[in-house]
Amino acid sequence: MGRQGRAARKRSSFLPGQRCRPVARCVSLRGLVSAVLPVWIAIAGCFCRTEAAASATEEWSTPPGFRVEVDATGFSYPVTIAFAPRPGGTPQAPLYYLAELTGRILAVTRERAVHVYADKLLNFGSSFGPGGDGEVEGIGLVGLCVDSVGGDLFATTVFDDGGIYRNKIIRFRSTDDGLAAASAQDILVMSREEMRGNAHQIQHCSVGPDRRLYVAVGNGDQPRLGSRLTSLQGKILRLNLDGSPASDNPFFDPRDRGAARNYVFSLGLRNPFAMIWRGSQLFASENGVNVDRLIKVTRGMDFGYDGLDHTIRMNALFVWGPPSPVPVGMAVVDDSGFPADKRGQAFVALMGSSNEWHLPGPVKTGREIHEFTVDADGRMLRPPRPFAKYVGRRATTVVALASGPDGLYLGEFPLRRGVAASVLKIRYDGSEARTNELRRGAPGGSTVYERYDCGSCHTIGVSGGRKGPDLTDAVDNLKERLQSAEYVRMVEDLSRSRPERAARLANLLEKRGDDRVRLWLKAHIVDPKFDNPKAQMPAFEMSEPELDSLVEFLMKRKRPGFVSATVKAAVARWTMLSRPIQVLAVFGFGGMMFIFGVISAVAVGRLQIRKRRVGT
Ligand code: HEC
Repeated sequence: MGRQGRAARKRSSFLPGQRCRPVARCVSLRGLVSAVLPVWIAIAGCFCRTEAAASATEEWSTPPGFRVEVDATGFSYPVTIAFAPRPGGTPQAPLYYLAELTGRILAVTRERAVHVYADKLLNFGSSFGPGGDGEVEGIGLVGLCVDSVGGDLFATTVFDDGGIYRNKIIRFRSTDDGLAAASAQDILVMSREEMRGNAHQIQHCSVGPDRRLYVAVGNGDQPRLGSRLTSLQGKILRLNLDGSPASDNPFFDPRDRGAARNYVFSLGLRNPFAMIWRGSQLFASENGVNVDRLIKVTRGMDFGYDGLDHTIRMNALFVWGPPSPVPVGMAVVDDSGFPADKRGQAFVALMGSSNEWHLPGPVKTGREIHEFTVDADGRMLRPPRPFAKYVGRRATTVVALASGPDGLYLGEFPLRRGVAASVLKIRYDGSEARTNELRRGAPGGSTVYERYDCGSCHTIGVSGGRKGPDLTDAVDNLKERLQSAEYVRMVEDLSRSRPERAARLANLLEKRGDDRVRLWLKAHIVDPKFDNPKAQMPAFEMSEPELDSLVEFLMKRKRPGFVSATVKAAVARWTMLSRPIQVLAVFGFGGMMFIFGVISAVAVGRLQIRKRRVGT
């Protein structure tokens, strides 16, 4: 999986979702209960924070004409979706297979019944989230691919060999209906010697047009292994479907049948994740530390990663970061009901940095899908750019990506333990091209800010460019400037010298306070020269809903007041605490309130008794 282990830092884990304890009612202590009740309600409220979703369409921002739907639900950490090679016509036929990190393969039929194809593929308990010492666990079953000719399924997974994780490839055969595996055979089990650490193990597999099995293997956190032909790690391997090395591999040596070099197709990798084919060209997503790359995997190519971050740039088609957005699942859309200009496009899911996994909602990099254009000769025609982004309120992301008959399928990947995930699909629904974007609400302002790359010139907070002014507290600055006598005089002068702008400028001066800022922002973004003929900023063309939400996003960039700054800092502190400490704090607080309640109840009781005595 993405980047774990060292890259992860200690974070809070989360309360498990929907468990609500009924509050006991105690009639004789009514006063006491009523004193403490609000506290318990507040505590219960924290525990019962539902993960309940807004609709998938509202949670994802997509281009006009596309919408996001739930296809099937109830999965545990889906990592790969692989479509059946020749989906049968009946509603009971399998449409796609899904690998869960926790060791299950499921078959989802055309009528979306979910069957267990293979289970208990791990001999250890895998889960996702911080492990005991704060390291992120997230290894298990990862890859799943189908031989479209023979129909067999291949899965890549790790297994626990006396405390050491080892990689293997399993081949499944199924009976005719394809709903359950009839047999499973380990076709390659990787050696024990070189395994260390948990991260960067075996990732995806793919059966190529040459009917060879291509397998991406991470370097097991040992950078020096990537360039060594004596190791299978940090490589793309190429095998026959029975697990033997393909004899036309670039480093094949017939004298030593079992040698690691025989399997190697390309080398010098850190943590390659997924692969796609465009004609006979193979592309892969590869994870670095602070930068990630997209590569065209060619025979015998050494991609040169040697442990230094900048070497991830070597022989790359495209580099993301810093910060690293963690590219994972990939897909090429053949048809999927997409418009003609999207056919043949490639897509890659960006999981997002583990530093932000604890955050709910949209994050700066990741939780999105990028689109890029490569041709059948392997040239990059258009580099990756945003296609869809998560804009909902949960801590969730996307890992699995696959092109289906009626849309681009993605596996939602919750970043909290024990939350069920859905398979979503992005469908094209062109007839509603404009209303769709409106109906699902405008894209989030931060998404628009990213989509138009405002951050290349402007800084918000700590990150961004320096060609334009810092927008961290843009609104307060603008409000002062637009209200100033100097600005008003300048606008009046401009109105006289440029009468064609007079009406617009007068309109602006009619507004006061925030409303003036709003109107100014709208005018400025689409035409920066409207009140400043010398403006350097380029004009932007965008849809009305995009402009509205961008302006609202900018309107929130105010100097935080004392109260909101304090609350924000407190919330940030709280999310950084580990779960035991959070639970302790909640119960400690509850306990204190309880004691306080008891003392006040006793005090009130005494007071009444005394009053009564005084009265008699
Ligand atoms: C190529 C660089 C560049 C890009 C891209 C850019 N801007 Fe600007 N922006 C500037 C510059 C330079 C200024 C200062 C005024 C001027 O010279 O136009 C400015 C001014 C501004 C201001 C006024 C700030 C102030 O305090 O006066 C706002 C607001 C703003 N830009 C928003 C945006 C938004 C929103 C986007 C994205 C849609 C964006 N900018 C994209 C360069 C850029």
